[in-house]
Parts: sequence; C-alpha cells; structure tokens
Amino acid sequence: AKISFHHSDGNVDVLDVDPGTSIMRAAVTNGVAGIVGECGGQAMCATCHVYVRPEYLDGLPEIGDDEEEMLDCTTEERDGERSRLGCQLKAGEAFDNIEVDLPASQI
Ligand code: FES
Repeated sequence: AKISFHHSDGNVDVLDVDPGTSIMRAAVTNGVAGIVGECGGQAMCATCHVYVRPEYLDGLPEIGDDEEEMLDCTTEERDGERSRLGCQLKAGEAFDNIEVDLPASQI
C-alpha cells in the first residue's frame, strides 16, 4: 500500500507500507516529520492528525467515538470529514493508496 504525506512546506514523502500499518505508525517508523503519535495509537492524543485528500475519503471507516472526541482536541483546526487520526487508518483496511496533508503543527 502507498501513503503520500504532503507537508505544509510543499515537500512530499511517499512510503510503501505493509497491510495493517497505520498512517501514524508508518510516519513514526520511517522518520516522516509532522506526525507525533504520542499515545502510541490509542486514539488518546490527537498528535497524529491528518487531512485526508478529498479523493480518498470514499471507503474510509467511520469515525469512532474516541476518534471523534480527539478530533476536537487537535492543535490545528479540524477540517470536516478530511480530519482523521492517522493511527486509526490502516493500510489494507481503510485504504490501499492514500494521500494526506499534514497540519503545520501537532502540539
Ligand atoms: Fe495518539 Fe493517534 S497516536 S491519537
């Protein structure tokens, strides 16, 4: 599966990841800046906030209750259904190929 991370400065990181890898885990493991993942993927910190590009919104799982709550605590403002927690979206489950914009700040 492929994840493209669009940084706020215009740079792009593209990763090939195995099924089951979340957007947060992929970024943290590969040193992609812009995602912190403080809680380790428990939907408890909101430091893995990403803006999913509109063309990839179809087919994403629904926002869970914990995710919904944390999305109101993001550092950069929530942007409707584009805002998701990167730890809750996993390759092979939520997407095969996805592009996300990274907020300028997570904390
Ligand atoms: Fe903490 Fe996603 S890593 S909410």
